[in-house]
Amino acid sequence: MSTTEAERRHDRYALGHTPEEYDRLRAQARGWEAATGRLLDQLGLAPGASCLDAGCGPGETMRLMARRVGPTGRVLGIDTDSSLGAMALASLHATGHRQCFFHSQDLTAGEPIPRAPFDLVYARLLLFHLPQRVSVLARLWDAVAPGGHLLVQDYDLRGISMLPELDTVTEATRVITGAFGAVGADVHVGARLPQLFVQAGIGEPHGTDVAGRIEPLATGRALVERTFRSVLPTALAHGVTTEAAAATVLASIDRDATQFPDGQMVWPLLIGAWKRKERA
Ligand SMILES: C[S@@+](CC[C@H](N)C(=O)[O-])C[C@H]1O[C@@H](n2cnc3c(N)ncnc32)[C@H](O)[C@@H]1O
Repeated sequence: MSTTEAERRHDRYALGHTPEEYDRLRAQARGWEAATGRLLDQLGLAPGASCLDAGCGPGETMRLMARRVGPTGRVLGIDTDSSLGAMALASLHATGHRQCFFHSQDLTAGEPIPRAPFDLVYARLLLFHLPQRVSVLARLWDAVAPGGHLLVQDYDLRGISMLPELDTVTEATRVITGAFGAVGADVHVGARLPQLFVQAGIGEPHGTDVAGRIEPLATGRALVERTFRSVLPTALAHGVTTEAAAATVLASIDRDATQFPDGQMVWPLLIGAWKRKERA
């Protein structure tokens, strides 16, 4: 077992913290920009508002928020990954979004969320990774100001499909799903959001949304291949696949992308749920 695999055996976050994974997160965020922006607008995110992006990663949703709240608003990103947070903040400030801040914090620990309450508390692709998703959701709700919103978007990986059906994509999806499952992630958490809101004491969401994306394998392969590479040390550490089987999958993705460039790949569903907090 390599050092990376040994580390991953104890790491509860399956995707790792490599520069390649950071690039993948940025590309993924570009793919969902319209789906997230649409909900921010639907909830009426306006100039002067305060926002929290919980598990902000590369900070691309913070950018969408900053554009809407303007210089009189404020946007706080929280993440356990302080290197990624520092890069996100540098990029946001370099493009003029000085109203953005970053705080390094593990949201599963009991510490209070700084600068709360917020007009909007948002989390995308965070609860997916956290076995403590109900208590984290309750903590996020506590950070919502009266009259403000909690908005969560998360994946249901059952949405992934390929036309024509390709064994390579099926196997890559099995490994990705298996690696996430091995560290306690919930790969269907998007579909469970309404139930989680109730379990967290928030009550039924006021609204839900389902977003999807479809693209040719020639470009869509990047999502599968990069996600596969990111989770691979976790998958190997937990016996979900072997080095030899992984090498076959990676070689086959290349071959399939050449053979079926117009094959259509459907991304996982991105499911949203939101709730407005009553004014006291
Ligand atoms: C899949 S990324 C999503 C990033 C971003 N929300 C997006 O949609 O582009 C999940 C992020 O959650 C962060 N994260 C994981 N566990 C966390 C925790 N316990 N507390 C805070 N952040 C966490 C990771 O470091 C990572 O940046």
